[in-house]
Amino acid sequence: MGLRAWAPGRVNLIGDHTDYMGGLVLPMAIGLGTEITGDHGGNWVMLGSDRFEGVAEIPLAGVDDPAAVEPPWARYVAAVVGEITPDDGLVGMVQSTLPAGSGLASSAALQVAVATALGADLGDPLAVAQACQRAEQRATGVPVGIMDQLVSLAAVEGSVLRIDCDALTIDHVPFPEDAEIVVIHSGEHRELTGSAYAMRRAECEAAEAVVGRLRDADPVDVEAIEDPVLRRRARHVTTENRRVDALASALAKDQLAYAGELLVASHASLRDDFEVSTPMLDQIVGTVRGVPGVYGARVTGAGFGGCVVVLCKPKTRIGGPVVWRGRPAPGAALQRTDQSQG
Ligand code: GLA
Repeated sequence: MGLRAWAPGRVNLIGDHTDYMGGLVLPMAIGLGTEITGDHGGNWVMLGSDRFEGVAEIPLAGVDDPAAVEPPWARYVAAVVGEITPDDGLVGMVQSTLPAGSGLASSAALQVAVATALGADLGDPLAVAQACQRAEQRATGVPVGIMDQLVSLAAVEGSVLRIDCDALTIDHVPFPEDAEIVVIHSGEHRELTGSAYAMRRAECEAAEAVVGRLRDADPVDVEAIEDPVLRRRARHVTTENRRVDALASALAKDQLAYAGELLVASHASLRDDFEVSTPMLDQIVGTVRGVPGVYGARVTGAGFGGCVVVLCKPKTRIGGPVVWRGRPAPGAALQRTDQSQG
């Protein structure tokens, strides 16, 4: 049976490096994403890619170690097959409009597109997101959180998602009519994200051993942490969680100038306390803040390169490599394309 599966990438408006500590995030889906077209049948999942070399050829029974599969992009496919355990194979083609390694969750979009094409239950976005999160962890060894997969699955057009990554609940916050999101690429591809990401997570866990759950800690409490590095990491997470709620309510009340200030404060925290920005990202944020119509900007996603997210008035003229602009897009979808159904 012919099918077309779509999974969007995301831009996170605020709340980075908080999801894996049970914190709060505020992402939205964008209009760039990954599409799989193909047909069900057979005992293999066989996918070609418009972007990556080689073919993913994964037996329906799965593989022992997805991280050992070649070519490397097929590791995500193998890990998702292992999680979804489909009854039916798939032969198809992967096409993506998302720049890879850019902080826009292209790997989550691939996982979610594969899961969607294999018939995962889109009516239970949380369960599918958890399966895809496990798949990414198995495929890469990176201890990622749930944000990217969950927003790709659960996004709703016109709203940003406030996700509580501890309770695993989602609140939809309507995006203001008189605002727009612009995503600018720094030109820096993230290379070392894996090890640096895992190190940041380990530092946050070490901080928790001192002050208890960062999710529940007060920013004042973390100032008592003796180790200066752990103190900075914990300060970022605790203050960022508060900024997520502040931004959600600022957007709901159309307080766009304040919303912009929160973005800028988040960038400073990711730069100084979490140390995941780069001079190029800092420069882009600094420059774009001065553009008339811009409320604020920050690095988005894991950092170490990738993209800057800008909150601005609609149609604001912004120079540089804009990869996407618009309002919150819808989440993953499956379409049957067999001729009998037109
Ligand atoms: C990556 C991970 C997410 C999240 C962000 C940082 O995108 O996949 O789970 O941790 O980094 O906020």
